[in-house]
Amino acid sequence: MIKFITGIPKAELHLHIEGTFEPELMFKIAKRNGIELDFNNIEELKKAYNFSNLQEFLNIYYAGCNVLINEVDFFDLTWAYLTKAKEQNILHTEVMFDPQTHTDRGILFETVINGIHNALADAENKLGISSKLIMSFLRHLPEKKAFETLEQAAPFKEWIDVVGLDSSEVGNPPSKFARVFQKAREEGYLIVAHAGEEGPPEYVTEALEFLQVDRIDHGNRSLEDMDVVNDLIERKMALTVCPLSNLKLKVVEDLTKHPLREMLDKGLFVTINSDDPAYFGGYLNENFFEIQKALNLSKEDIIQLAGNSFKASFLNEIEKSKMLQEITDYINLH
Ligand code: HPA
Ligand code: ZN
Repeated sequence: MIKFITGIPKAELHLHIEGTFEPELMFKIAKRNGIELDFNNIEELKKAYNFSNLQEFLNIYYAGCNVLINEVDFFDLTWAYLTKAKEQNILHTEVMFDPQTHTDRGILFETVINGIHNALADAENKLGISSKLIMSFLRHLPEKKAFETLEQAAPFKEWIDVVGLDSSEVGNPPSKFARVFQKAREEGYLIVAHAGEEGPPEYVTEALEFLQVDRIDHGNRSLEDMDVVNDLIERKMALTVCPLSNLKLKVVEDLTKHPLREMLDKGLFVTINSDDPAYFGGYLNENFFEIQKALNLSKEDIIQLAGNSFKASFLNEIEKSKMLQEITDYINLH
């Protein structure tokens, strides 16, 4: 099964580029930029990766970002993820970045996006990996700041396909950002939002109704309300589920209690993703391995989940069918 999962062509739809920052690279870039980390070495840093909730993780994740200063730093961060994606047979990836995490520290928007974009363009040419870029607003900040970020993005609109919403969920409902997402939609962006990770099912409904999302990130807590589940099914709304993230942030107590099986059985349109792999103990394939083992998923389940990853992507229909054909070819050989 491990070999089958490793080889199957797949897409990744929920990945924070800042969450791929491996300790080794963090120390290297910190040194290059003359910045002292709060930790003396890699082992000490890794010991801090023990979270009891989303906020504890976010505090460490934002601290790690402080060493990212120059365009080359953002390039190196993104390129490191993309080479990993190549090894994992990821054909297509939809990468999120948090511009406000950097612009709030005085880094220019263009420094961030040039580095990320150049790595994504190189990946297309040199690794054959296609991508979409998702710009996420930090929901713990005021809506006004999101509006400013949308404005800063305007000169780079061709490089950004999607606008998203992340960071501290509880107390920051999607409705807080209704107007800025309306503007983003009017400007032609697709929309995603984290909802129902720690927040209640009402936040999922708000993301659907106030933000008019094209996809929901996480969505676990939808299961607490059958009306929300039925709404998601009726809309054929995809959820980007992140098993190891859910385990590390205590959204689930144990992977055997992960709701993925229930989601599949109810007919929800679910995909598997890694979220912040450097912090949660595994990239996309490891998420597949662990959840397969915990829930005893069948080969057919894996094929469905890999297929869903392309179907739920923002590729066009021709691109989707090409990549789905790659899965069919792979199955015929394995
Ligand atoms: N949830 C919310 N915000 C985030 C996450 C997450 O899992 N990762 C990075 N920002
Ligand atoms: Zn996320």
